[in-house]
Amino acid sequence: MFEAQVIASESKAVFYSDLNKQLTGLLEGEHDLMANTANFSSLVFLMLADLNWAGFYFLRGNDLVLGPFQGKPACVRIPVLPAPRGVCGNAAFHKKTFVVPNVHEFPGHIACDSASNSEIVIPLTAGGKAVGVLDVDSPTLARFDDEDRAGLETMVKTLIAKTDFSAL
Ligand code: SME
Repeated sequence: MFEAQVIASESKAVFYSDLNKQLTGLLEGEHDLMANTANFSSLVFLMLADLNWAGFYFLRGNDLVLGPFQGKPACVRIPVLPAPRGVCGNAAFHKKTFVVPNVHEFPGHIACDSASNSEIVIPLTAGGKAVGVLDVDSPTLARFDDEDRAGLETMVKTLIAKTDFSAL
């Protein structure tokens, strides 16, 4: 049975390095898309302080569709093409991480949970194509900085390396 280990670290870089090691152990020997993204969202929601939502959307045709997550029920479908909507749609469309310190100032932000004040969205790419996004939300303004971006991008790389996305 997997037990999340409390990480006592003096820096965010060390915290994310330890968390990425836990993720590697958690995903060991399993390639299933739903199982791995479900466990990823649980680990992030459990271990990162001050979150109200963490989870995945997967690209289905022109839209992102809700996948495994932790938090309140969320909007199911977010358009990417022909014109991206919200932070998630933009991250998938531009294949680029968006760090949004104040979601209320982001044009077209989609408010799934009124508690969210800041957000980070990281695209998932396979074979150079966007296949989905990881979305993490916080009730605190400017909760995510460049070290969170780097740490979560590394964890997404671990997920992609260990997971079979061909089922999408
Ligand atoms: N806020 C996101 C929508 C997804 S929810 O936050 C879970 C967006 O603007 O794309």
